[in-house]
Amino acid sequence: MTDTTTTTTSETARLDYLGATFDVRGLNVVVTGGGSGLGLRMSTALARAGAQVTLVDREADRLDAAQQQLAAQGIIVDTAAADITDADELDGVFAQIAARGGLHVVFANAGISAGIGPRLKSGRITAIDHERWGQVLDVNLTGTMNTIASAARHMTTGYGRIIATSSVGGIRADPLVGYAYAASKAGVVGIVRNAALELAPRNILVNAIAPGLFETNIRKANPIAQAMTADFEKVSALKRSGQLTELEGLAVFLASPASSFVTGAVISIDGGGALVGPNDVEA
Ligand SMILES: NC(=O)c1ccc[n+]([C@@H]2O[C@H](COP(=O)([O-])OP(=O)(O)OC[C@H]3O[C@@H](n4cnc5c(N)ncnc54)[C@H](O)[C@@H]3O)[C@@H](O)[C@H]2O)c1
Repeated sequence: MTDTTTTTTSETARLDYLGATFDVRGLNVVVTGGGSGLGLRMSTALARAGAQVTLVDREADRLDAAQQQLAAQGIIVDTAAADITDADELDGVFAQIAARGGLHVVFANAGISAGIGPRLKSGRITAIDHERWGQVLDVNLTGTMNTIASAARHMTTGYGRIIATSSVGGIRADPLVGYAYAASKAGVVGIVRNAALELAPRNILVNAIAPGLFETNIRKANPIAQAMTADFEKVSALKRSGQLTELEGLAVFLASPASSFVTGAVISIDGGGALVGPNDVEA
């Protein structure tokens, strides 16, 4: 006969252990680009795990839709409309959030696509669209730097986690990824490494994630999105794109006490997409 008392106790102990190891309850979390895609999914996971999450996005409509969609599932989040390229506006939002019990975790995640890479003639280095170059660097690099700066300024509780979203396209070549995107995502890694050193004495840990391919809105306007998916699935070890749910564990880990000895790291979440490649640039 099964001893139900023992079983219940050990099950409770197991859940207590997991709960304490990955405990994000009560942490004040900000996610930029939280209105869509990776940011929305990471926000959902953290809110479900008990964090107080604020989604920040420049698209107010997306924020409203996301908030309502989560509320319908019983998941409560805050929202704040802000553009990460406007350092003062962003800092004001962070100040307000920090005033509500301190700022603990920031995901510097918002980003945009640069379109076509050197696989196609229009994406080659001799054909750089300087206007697009400026826009992508402004959002993906300067905006991420603004976000990390505001996080550093307002994280004053002695517990700090900053997680920036780089990309597989920032850590290896990919002829389907535009130059501006590759440069911005490699640049994010540089910022993360320096910030990890600078902020360690304040117990603020700074890491980057380098996702492989996930189906989100960022790809909607990209005319070669299908080719990118096919290429990625061909070179990745797991031979497939990622499911958004597969981001959840890493997001909770990096926000939680479990990641206390991880800083300055670039963590691939790409099904082995960075292991092989790139494909040739075809003439
Ligand atoms: N989807 C992928 O395959 C993939 C792979 C690697 C890295 N990434 C990176 O992940 C991050 C999230 O991308 P996603 O795929 O979820 O795309 P997405 O387009 O679904 O979401 C990005 C969100 O960022 C917001 N945003 C864009 N510019 C902003 C700004 N200036 N200020 C505030 N918000 C802004 C958008 O409104 C959008 O809601 C990006 O940094 C992207 O480069 C995505």
